[in-house]
Amino acid sequence: MSYTYKELGLSTTKEMFERANKNGFAVPAFNFNDMEMMQAIVGACAEMGSPVILQCSEGALKYMGKETVPLLGKAAVDIARAKGSDIPIALHLDHGETLEVVKTCIAAGFSSVMIDGSHHDYEANVKLTKEVVEYAHANDVVVEGELGILAGIEDNVKAEKSTYTKPEEVEDFLKKTNVDSLAIAIGTSHGAHKFKPGEDPKLRLDILAEIERKIPGFPVVLHGSSAVPAKYTEMIKQYGGQIKDAIGIPDEQLRLAAKSAVAKINVDTDGRLCFTAMIRKVFATDPKEFDPRKYLGPAREEMKAYYKEKIATIFGSEGAYKKADK
Ligand code: G3H
Ligand code: 13P
Ligand code: ZN
Repeated sequence: MSYTYKELGLSTTKEMFERANKNGFAVPAFNFNDMEMMQAIVGACAEMGSPVILQCSEGALKYMGKETVPLLGKAAVDIARAKGSDIPIALHLDHGETLEVVKTCIAAGFSSVMIDGSHHDYEANVKLTKEVVEYAHANDVVVEGELGILAGIEDNVKAEKSTYTKPEEVEDFLKKTNVDSLAIAIGTSHGAHKFKPGEDPKLRLDILAEIERKIPGFPVVLHGSSAVPAKYTEMIKQYGGQIKDAIGIPDEQLRLAAKSAVAKINVDTDGRLCFTAMIRKVFATDPKEFDPRKYLGPAREEMKAYYKEKIATIFGSEGAYKKADK
């Protein structure tokens, strides 16, 4: 089966980004890998009245399957509406690498795609991004491009070293590609190890300010923005897991970014840590338990509560739309 995102009740990011930039908040873009994570994300956002971008990586698409992902997106919309919330929900491809995967996602029912050409040289990035934008716009789908390289490791995106975005390139990139939003590199990175112990965990907010001066009002995207909370890394260790020297982005840095041109902030690692910490706790404290609902349920509840807290304290997107009943 093939759907358009409109048939699924999904939205693009256009209106939510306009509202975010006008009102000084950032839209949360939370990655999901399964039904429970989707339910935690939409539950949190609907109850807080926050717009949301349900984000699916190529790895997550392979894991869940292209038949399942769009219907989880539709379920998210139905859950929000059933709770009495009117929040817009976008289904977004995270770090798409090729035009082929973009085509697959748009045919499946995604409303937004990222084409990550940041690992190519500038001209090749422009060429690939432009091709994707032409295809996506013909289908009313919006596109996020990227300039600059984030360090860190995911299934598809591996980089040893980061390269900050060059502010002098952004106007030209926007003009040549016609992207709808732009991911930049200002010192964030993917995963749970964003800084070395002893390093000053600071973002280059000066580069962000310069980019904002070059492209006023244009929605900027921040990847690699997990806070990596000690409460979950400690819990993982307490219940038998191994995680060393995990350091995330300080809340205050993210709050400053959310108030600026940054209209979308990506968080994946925090959800993984929180979900895993809770499952470990159940396994360790109740070793006889083998009903998946008894460990996935508490993990889902914890993730929802934690994301509500993040919306209130980091994103500033609470109450941008009607709040749902609890
Ligand atoms: O930035 C990307 C996400 O953290 C996705 O990670 O490719 O392991 O699903 P993944
Ligand atoms: P984190 O690894 O910091 O959660 O970043 C997620 C991300 O950028 C997804 O695209
Ligand atoms: Zn990312």
